[in-house]
Amino acid sequence: MALPLALLAGCGDDGPMPIPVPGGHAGAGRALLERYHCAACHSIPGVEGQQGRIGPALDTFGRASYIAGHLPNSPDVLQRWIVDPPAIKPGTPMPAMGVSPADARDMAAYLYTLR
Ligand code: HEC
Repeated sequence: MALPLALLAGCGDDGPMPIPVPGGHAGAGRALLERYHCAACHSIPGVEGQQGRIGPALDTFGRASYIAGHLPNSPDVLQRWIVDPPAIKPGTPMPAMGVSPADARDMAAYLYTLR
């Protein structure tokens, strides 16, 4: 957990660093969260959009232990979730939105900064 990765410019938090996402760029991820309209269904700090309430608020997602109730919250699982939620949780109301794995990696890096 103490790996010196994924340093964020301007992160003044004294707590532990965000979970590192190898190759993920949080700044790009924030822009992608806007482009894919993730905030239509989620409240996501720092992301433009309607801050919808259909999905869970992501305000402290970087501290969450689980994704969608029971999936372990790890960078690998989170990227797979963003690409195709029903593939790893059949019946979930979150749709696959045509996100590429590279875009999901950047979005994961941003989501882990939310704590
Ligand atoms: C149509 C509404 C909708 C859109 C658009 C949407 N989501 Fe979701 N999302 C949901 C719902 C509903 C859940 C809860 C799923 C479940 O528990 O099965 C969820 C769950 C999640 C979770 C897990 C949150 C938690 O606390 O367990 C993450 C992370 C997430 N979404 C990220 C995204 C990202 C990134 C995008 C944009 C690419 C996005 N979502 C777009 C509806 C949406």
